[in-house]
Amino acid sequence: MKFVVTGGAGFIGSAFVRLLIGSGRASLVVNLDKLTYAGNPENLAAVADHPRYRFVHGDICDQSLVNALIEETRPDVLVNFAAESHVDRSILSPEPVFETNLRGTLTLLEAARLHKLPRFLHVSTDEVYGSIEPPHEADEDFPLRASSPYSASKAGSDLLALSYFVTYKLPVTVTRASNNYGPYQFPEKLIPLMISNAIEDQPLPIYGDGMQIRDWLYVDDHCRAILAAIERGRPGEIYNIGGSRALPNVEVVQKILAALGKPESLMQTVKDRPGHDRRYALSSEKLMRETGWKPEMPFEQGLRATIEWYRANPGWVARVKSGEYQQYYQRNYEGRAV
Ligand code: NAD
Ligand code: TYD
Repeated sequence: MKFVVTGGAGFIGSAFVRLLIGSGRASLVVNLDKLTYAGNPENLAAVADHPRYRFVHGDICDQSLVNALIEETRPDVLVNFAAESHVDRSILSPEPVFETNLRGTLTLLEAARLHKLPRFLHVSTDEVYGSIEPPHEADEDFPLRASSPYSASKAGSDLLALSYFVTYKLPVTVTRASNNYGPYQFPEKLIPLMISNAIEDQPLPIYGDGMQIRDWLYVDDHCRAILAAIERGRPGEIYNIGGSRALPNVEVVQKILAALGKPESLMQTVKDRPGHDRRYALSSEKLMRETGWKPEMPFEQGLRATIEWYRANPGWVARVKSGEYQQYYQRNYEGRAV
């Protein structure tokens, strides 16, 4: 199959591109990426010169570029990873989030409709369900209750993508995954931020009481789930993808500190994130039943592998933490210690 992947220079997209090329599953992978602060060609060094891989530098909001790319490539499937993906940044500056996540998705859907693409997979998130009271977990029919500009933009783009199935019969599938972790994740998200700060003996900022719960999914398990949804899932359907490992943030951070041999005194309580979702919980039963997929990486093993990767790649970390990152870090964290 020929793939067009958007956002393939980011964390999950690059893992997906490496999986496609490494497994020999694709006859061609074209990666369209704007290379925002989160897009990093270093993430694709392993495949950059592969004859079945091609990189296109561009914006998913650019309709003529997207149309030309689809016309020229004639992919069997388009997988849309490209997004502004961070809740805290969406709180600081919502506009770019809506531009890429909604306008960009619309642009891709229009190109897909024009060229009658055989398959469109839109990558979404469990955050569209909002905070979930225990003991409930969200299935695919659970109401959407987005809390942040990020999750609202993802909920909007999900519904837009599904409307193209209903209205235009475009074979769209939407996947909603829980929190991912693994190598190459930008250190604005909880796990890589805590690992890299702990390695540098910097404070680890815990939002509020740190008892918020996330369901952790190893990035390669997520990528296999997306392939399963493409190969064995049904168009017009939504599939949840969870890691089956729910933990409070503090426990995750304690595990990181223990693995690195660093003191718990590095944890620093900071003022909570506005609108902070207390608990995410979802059922992936539908994807498991229909495709046979299941998460394979145990959390402790995945966390160890992730920590090892960050320890082994100080150059990657130093480069992504230089420049813009410093300004973001100051904007998000300064004056928040309590
Ligand atoms: P990321 O921030 O690491 O990467 C995003 C990529 O998209 C970057 O390469 C960036 O350059 C590119 N991009 C951004 N705007 C673009 C534009 N306008 N045109 C072209 N490229 C653009 O994100 P990620 O964590 O890899 O997430 C990928 C997708 O998975 C997103 O859609 C996100 O909403 C979804 N998701 C993420 C998680 C998670 O835990 N990280 C969980 C569930 C779903
Ligand atoms: P994050 O990685 O931003 O993912 P999301 O908000 O999309 O779930 O955050 C995961 C959890 O960690 C969330 O409850 C917020 C919390 N958190 C902190 O306590 N401190 C931090 O510095 C960050 C970035 C997150």
